[in-house]
Amino acid sequence: MPWKTLDDMDLAGKVVLTRVDINVPMENGAVTDATRIEKIVPTVTDILAGGGKVVLLAHFGRPKGKPVPEMSLRLVQPALEAAVGRPVTFMERPDRAAIDALPGDAVVLVENTRFSPLEEANDPGMARFLASLGDIYCNDAFSAAHRAHASTEGVARLMPNCAGRLMEEELRALDAALGKPERPVVAVVGGAKVSTKIELLANLVTKVDHLVIGGGMANTFLVAEGIEVGKSLAERDMAETAREIRRKAQTAECRIHLPVDIVVAWEFKAGTATETMDTDDCPMDAMILDAGPKTVAELETVFAGARTLIWNGPLAPSK
Ligand code: 3PG
Ligand code: MG
Repeated sequence: MPWKTLDDMDLAGKVVLTRVDINVPMENGAVTDATRIEKIVPTVTDILAGGGKVVLLAHFGRPKGKPVPEMSLRLVQPALEAAVGRPVTFMERPDRAAIDALPGDAVVLVENTRFSPLEEANDPGMARFLASLGDIYCNDAFSAAHRAHASTEGVARLMPNCAGRLMEEELRALDAALGKPERPVVAVVGGAKVSTKIELLANLVTKVDHLVIGGGMANTFLVAEGIEVGKSLAERDMAETAREIRRKAQTAECRIHLPVDIVVAWEFKAGTATETMDTDDCPMDAMILDAGPKTVAELETVFAGARTLIWNGPLAPSK
């Protein structure tokens, strides 16, 4: 592999600045799904075992460059402590002296990197500041690595760097799936936005045999076909891009699958009334919230014939 892992680094006595994705769903102040937190445990454990101190950098939600109390990583601290099985020191304003003053096996969690507008701007000053906090940079945030921010891209250029265990696992799996995969290859892409995944889609259609598009992203493709989607989440200004991806897919002989039937609701709320109908029947005042049974049956056939399956993003929209 052309990148380094924790095994290539001398961690003893070092402060390892570790970018993680612990952007977890919360309800009433409690984490409702701790998967992302549990997934970073091997990296934390291995850094500690190598004699390094762990300083975790992460974003939480989209606070748009200013502090938002409900998006403080302080709220995630208890779940993080439970997952790593040790106390975690929270730092609202991290500084190297305070980190150095902690015991050698400390785990530090730094406040939401997106509380500063400099993070998403990939500001070189912020990257330099972050770099000053540690000796080694470890990126374990695969699911945030498509964003060139100060804590993901900027800082990595300034320090000896490596992939964390989760990043390693994801990159290996991706390489196995896209390098010389067993065919047919089926990719499932969901999530809300086409705009953040255009390059991914344009690239995928040249590599996979079937591309299943679901979630909010499917609505954008439906709009591009002239199908009305009512109040559904859709990026109407991305219609031409969606058509371009379809053309690319056709040239590459990749079959795109969009929902043929849908589940709609009039409110995005647990327990709300839903109706199932054909894709082109979505009422103007309703929103598409899931694929219908005919779509599921079609996808089951596609999946049954697949030898390799790649999946990114939820098929039903999330908040
Ligand atoms: C996610 O939850 O998808 C990641 O944490 C990235 O978050 P973002 O889409 O706000 O950059
Ligand atoms: Mg994401």
